[in-house]
Amino acid sequence: MSAIVQVRDLQKTYDGGFEALKRVNLDIEEGEILALLGPNGAGKTTLISTICGITTPTSGSISVGGHDVIDDFRRARRLVGLVPQEINLEPFEFVMNTVRFSRGLFGKGRNDAYLEQILKDLSLWDKRGGRIAELSGGMKRRVLIAKALSHEPRVLFLDEPTAGVDVELRKDMWQLVERLRKDGVTIILTTHYIEEAEAIADRVGVINKGEILLIEDKAALMSRMGQKEMRIELTESIETVPESLGDYDLVRSNDGRVLTYAYQTTSTRTGITSLLKDLQAAGIGLRDVQTSQSSLEDIFVNLVKESAK
Ligand SMILES: Nc1ncnc2c1ncn2[C@@H]1O[C@H](COP(=O)(O)OP(=O)(O)O)[C@@H](O)[C@H]1O
Ligand SMILES: [Mg+2]
Repeated sequence: MSAIVQVRDLQKTYDGGFEALKRVNLDIEEGEILALLGPNGAGKTTLISTICGITTPTSGSISVGGHDVIDDFRRARRLVGLVPQEINLEPFEFVMNTVRFSRGLFGKGRNDAYLEQILKDLSLWDKRGGRIAELSGGMKRRVLIAKALSHEPRVLFLDEPTAGVDVELRKDMWQLVERLRKDGVTIILTTHYIEEAEAIADRVGVINKGEILLIEDKAALMSRMGQKEMRIELTESIETVPESLGDYDLVRSNDGRVLTYAYQTTSTRTGITSLLKDLQAAGIGLRDVQTSQSSLEDIFVNLVKESAK
């Protein structure tokens, strides 16, 4: 099966010479939920808006549902819904009209029953007759989502949908994403929150300085994140790790005063108890023990370091 979104050697240099994307390649499978994580300025919005045909690539190609986003813009665009990072709504327009108008722009026939369902899912139904200007920030964000869904897109892009929104909206959005997934909608979201990626994504991509540094199955990434390290400070330095401790893959510090042991918090046996026993049996005294968990942050920092080399 070919990917619903195909990005090939995409490069984007803005007027003024800033290279926001460097040869990005990406395949997004139909029905998957992909979370793109990356710091401010990484190129997330640029990537999304080029896929949606709003920003023009400098070179490379993109297709959605087999349609080139430039040569066949209208067909590609019709398959795509975009919830932008910035709120861009007409303040004096009414909620229902805004959403209905948006559907019309894509050449879709009127279907108020479908729009009613969307507004209800987003807890906007009571506000349908109200003006945009009267809504809170969170409600406006819900309207953006309703607009993006108005023409029944097969691929939905959510650009930092939950940055600075209340917990309630975040939960509602996650539920909505789950429902859309059941309908087979492909979803790409950008986020800062690892919990968000953890809650809803099938795959996680990390992007920095215009490059995708990693793209991995969530489960695999989470198991890497479940890795913890135990730092064991010894009462006396040792020259080598005794053979009896060979199975633990301990890392000895240069001065021989610290041993580091890596283990999985997700496994039923961490090996800590037996390690401590075996250290004692080997006559090694402990001064202190500390543990630390590797987080996406660590993985990310390491990746960024690697990519800077
Ligand atoms: N219209 C533009 N003109 C020039 N530079 C831009 C423009 N839009 C974004 N950039 C720059 O491109 C980089 C990537 O921006 P963006 O895609 O918005 O990143 P992100 O969404 O990951 O925060 C940033 O350094 C930003 O300043
Ligand atoms: Mg952005």
